[in-house]
Amino acid sequence: MKRTALVRSLAKINLDLRVLHKRPDGYHELRTVFQSISLADRLRISFEKARCSAVTVTSDVEIPGINIAQVVSQAILEQSSLKGLIQIEIEKRIPMGGGLGGGSSNAAAVLLALPALMGWKPSMVQLESIAAKLGSDITFFLYGGAALGLGRGTDLYPLPDVNKRTGILAASGIHVSTADAYRGLQRTALETATAEPAAFRQTVWNLDALQGCRNDFEDSVYRVHPKLRAIHRALESSGAETVRMSGSGSTIFALGGGKPPGRSSILETCRVYPFETVSRRQYQSLWRRQLKEHIQAGELWPPLSRYAR
Ligand code: C5P
Repeated sequence: MKRTALVRSLAKINLDLRVLHKRPDGYHELRTVFQSISLADRLRISFEKARCSAVTVTSDVEIPGINIAQVVSQAILEQSSLKGLIQIEIEKRIPMGGGLGGGSSNAAAVLLALPALMGWKPSMVQLESIAAKLGSDITFFLYGGAALGLGRGTDLYPLPDVNKRTGILAASGIHVSTADAYRGLQRTALETATAEPAAFRQTVWNLDALQGCRNDFEDSVYRVHPKLRAIHRALESSGAETVRMSGSGSTIFALGGGKPPGRSSILETCRVYPFETVSRRQYQSLWRRQLKEHIQAGELWPPLSRYAR
């Protein structure tokens, strides 16, 4: 029998992002605060038991490169030792290559939904280990809400939810490669970040105030793409509490209060999306609702952890 789930796969912003030293494994040590937001892709994920396995992923817009939903599906088939036909249809709404974690969110959506459809019950540790192998941001999307990310971003600590805030984000269509953004970081930025752990601690302690938030990629990415600095300034003129670039760019968000930005020629060249922050409680209840036909009450979160047993 074919089992299908329709799920929303939410985007994230980085309320704060500091890049420290390069580590022996080639990744950079991070200090970041992830926050789920309401902007979402839609995925239809189905599974049907069969003698051999096949995975088909389609999307309403072309997704460049290897689709991560495909890779995650293969990893789940391997780990579960189950066989079957997996079909995934993606309706893309989250701008791609924009630092909003759309691909990582889709990957986590498959990690959460597919086991439920297959009747396979992995532990959270198993899911996290698949997530970390495939990308640095995927682990966050297994939990959602507000979370502190350390290490290469996969070492996650839940944070109390910030007050719900509304905002807008501007997607210019400029694609910033994550690897290039890391390479473009100025040494001085790295040194400053390393020297200022106290400033980051202050920001995290006072997250609700959104004061002192920063993103270490902004200077170097804006130097290569001056249009992004102009978008940042245009959003600042709305009087929002915080305007920041998300991840390694290029999406820029304005969060909290402020008037809608006035007519600005630079913003008219962007796609502008309204959004609101999504708490962990909302994120997790969204997932329970999305999978309710396929899981027992109280089963999903966190999957088979000691809290759920
Ligand atoms: O893990 P992910 O695929 O998101 O990373 C893409 C690239 O970004 C990595 O290959 C690496 O060059 C860089 N990166 C990094 N430090 C991190 C995360 C990513 O240098 N913490």
